[in-house]
Formats: sequence, structure tokens, C-alpha cells
Amino acid sequence: MKNTFGQSLGVTIFGESHGTAIGAVMDGLAPGIEVDEAFIARQLDRRRGLSTVSTKRREKDEFRIVSGYFEGKTTGTPLCIVIENEDTRSKDYSLTKDLARPGHADYTAYMKYHGFQDYRGGGHFSGRITTPLVAAGAIAMKALNKKGIYLGTHILICAGVRDRDFGDYQADFPILCDNIISMLDDEKRQEATERMKDAAKDGDSVGGVLQTAIVGLPAGVGEPWFDSFESVMSHALFSVPAVKGVEFGEGFGFADMRGSEANDCFTMNGDRIETVTNHNGGINGGITNGMPVLFNCVVKPTASIYKKQNTVDFIKKENAELQIKGRHDPAIIGRAAVVVDSVTALTVYDMLAMRFGTDYFKG
Ligand SMILES: Cc1cc2nc3c(=O)[nH]c(=O)nc-3n(C[C@H](O)[C@H](O)[C@H](O)COP(=O)(O)O)c2cc1C
Repeated sequence: MKNTFGQSLGVTIFGESHGTAIGAVMDGLAPGIEVDEAFIARQLDRRRGLSTVSTKRREKDEFRIVSGYFEGKTTGTPLCIVIENEDTRSKDYSLTKDLARPGHADYTAYMKYHGFQDYRGGGHFSGRITTPLVAAGAIAMKALNKKGIYLGTHILICAGVRDRDFGDYQADFPILCDNIISMLDDEKRQEATERMKDAAKDGDSVGGVLQTAIVGLPAGVGEPWFDSFESVMSHALFSVPAVKGVEFGEGFGFADMRGSEANDCFTMNGDRIETVTNHNGGINGGITNGMPVLFNCVVKPTASIYKKQNTVDFIKKENAELQIKGRHDPAIIGRAAVVVDSVTALTVYDMLAMRFGTDYFKG
């Protein structure tokens, strides 16, 4: 029953949606990393999203770093971040607590925790538990930036609307930070927002595909077999609630390509070894090749919809109808993008610390 990820940098998350507090413990951080509290706050704001197309739950997300942090820098001992829960409306959940929300984790949580789970607001399975992950990810992201590594995630597809591909990363990444519907093309963003609102009017929800790029990673990171870059990264990505598929580079698109189209030919750029194309998403044999690492995650439509649904009462063991209350997004993909960025930063930090040692990031 572990809630910890990572080898050199272990991140443990704790808490329930309507409990006293949620948080994360980062164990294995290098000493002397500058902690930018304003950046953490900004990332938490991005994760909270916009009121028109995201949850009406309004948490301030004020965080406290209660250990491992001294005079603006990490000490190298476990760093614990705590965020209090305030805006809880637990009664929304008590009436339907034994009715399994289709697509959500109510029934599976009951089977795993034998009825002792805190069901309120989805408990430990709530998207709210991604808040401390984002705070922890913000610390890792700044440490990566110091090493010249940058990353960003845009909504490639939402409700059938397709964004343009990444172009110039330096110009594109800031666009994503300024828009919670993190599409690169303004018109597509508006179109996708309208489709989200249409779904909300119908009491329904929509999903999509996120595309992430990591630039500035050196060649040679990752292990050849079980801890390949793809394996470790997908492990982290599949931990993000509602992520149901991950592909690297062309991913499933390789199925329709010939070798001559799929291969990325090598070329010299000055004294740097590069590839002309990047269909393999910057990874060969589980190891980074120095090109941008590219991957896509599919995020399913929000499970909690307001339409009436058929389900079961898993205590009474009888069929039932469910009319969901509570506050849910018609699309979580915009908020999930920030979470994907965060777990990506934590995972890349961990893999670099495994490769070059814990002190690689020290201040
Ligand atoms: C940032 C974020 C916010 C989420 N908010 C909601 C929500 O408001 N309602 C909901 O039903 N699911 C929400 N989810 C997804 C559920 O937590 C998730 O679907 C559920 O735990 C079941 O897990 P699975 O979809 O991975 O099987 C959210 C996910 C993320 C990443």
C-alpha cells in the first residue's frame, strides 16, 4: 500500500480530499536547491483551473513547507509540504457513498480498503491529491531549469479539436503557462473551450490527448531494460488519475509507417550529434539520445457527470440509479496538463540523480 515513487528522489503523497490536510514528502533532494515559493504558488493556481470549465471547488491552496527547507534553500533532509483542506462539502457525497460512480474509484477503493476508506470527495483517489504533486513538481522543475532542462505540456486534442504541434519550444512553453486551456493555437483553444461548455450544459464531460516535450536532456539517461526511460516515465504518468494511455514519439502511429519513414537519421550539427527527424521521441533503447523527449498521454472524460447513470449499491448488492452532486470539471485535461508536467519533472529529476548522483542538483 505504498504511495511513494522514485529511487534517488522518493516522493510520498498523503491525504484525502475532505480530510484535514494533504501533502507530499520529498526524500533525497540535493541540498542547496533554491525553492521559488512564488513559482510553486503559480503552478498550484494553474492546477486549480478556470471557473467556467473547471471545478467550482475553491481552495486557496496555501502551502507550508514544514521541513527540509532553510533560508530559501533545500537542506537535503526530507522536505514536507502541507496544504490544508478548507472548501469541503462532504454532505454532497454521504447520500450516495455506497453507489459506485461509473468510471471512478469508489467500488475499487471499497474492495481494497474494506470499507475503512474516507469516501468523502473521492478520498485519496480525488484529483485534489494531485495538488501536493504539483507543489513538489515545481521544486523539481526549477532544479531542472538550472541545468538547462525545460519541459511543457499542451492539449494536443480536446473533444475532437486538434491543436498545432510544438514548434519553437522556447516560444511555445510560455504560451502554455499563460493559459489553463493549454493549447498553442488561440482559435483552437476557443473552439475546445466551447465544446467543454457544451458538454457541461448536457451534464456531460470530454477528454483528450496531452503532448509533452522535454528539451535540454543530455544523451545517455535511462536504463536498457526494466528501468528504460519510457518504462519509468510511463509508471509515473499512469499514476496521474484519468491518464489511460501513454505513447512515445510516433507511438501507435508507428504501426502505419515503413522503417524508412520511422527511422531518425543521424547528422552532425557542429560537434553535436542530432537526428534529422524525431519520430522516436528522443529515446533509443530506453536511453535518451539528446533530442527533445516527446510523449502523449490520453486523459479520459471526467468520470463524475451530472447525467443520471445506472450503477450498483455495492453494500446492498442491488442495482441503483445515480444522480451525482459535488463539484466536477466537464474536462480535467487542462488541469491534468499541469500534473503531467509535475510528475515529468519529478521523474526526470530522479533519473538524472540516478545517472549523475544525488549532488548533481546541489546549489
Ligand atoms: C487534476 C485532476 C482533477 C480531477 N478532478 C476530477 C473531478 O472533479 N471529478 C472526477 O470524477 N474525476 C476527477 N479526476 C479524475 C479522477 O480522480 C479519476 O478518474 C479517478 O480517480 C479514477 O481513476 P482512473 O480514471 O485513473 O481509473 C481528476 C483528475 C485530475 C488529474
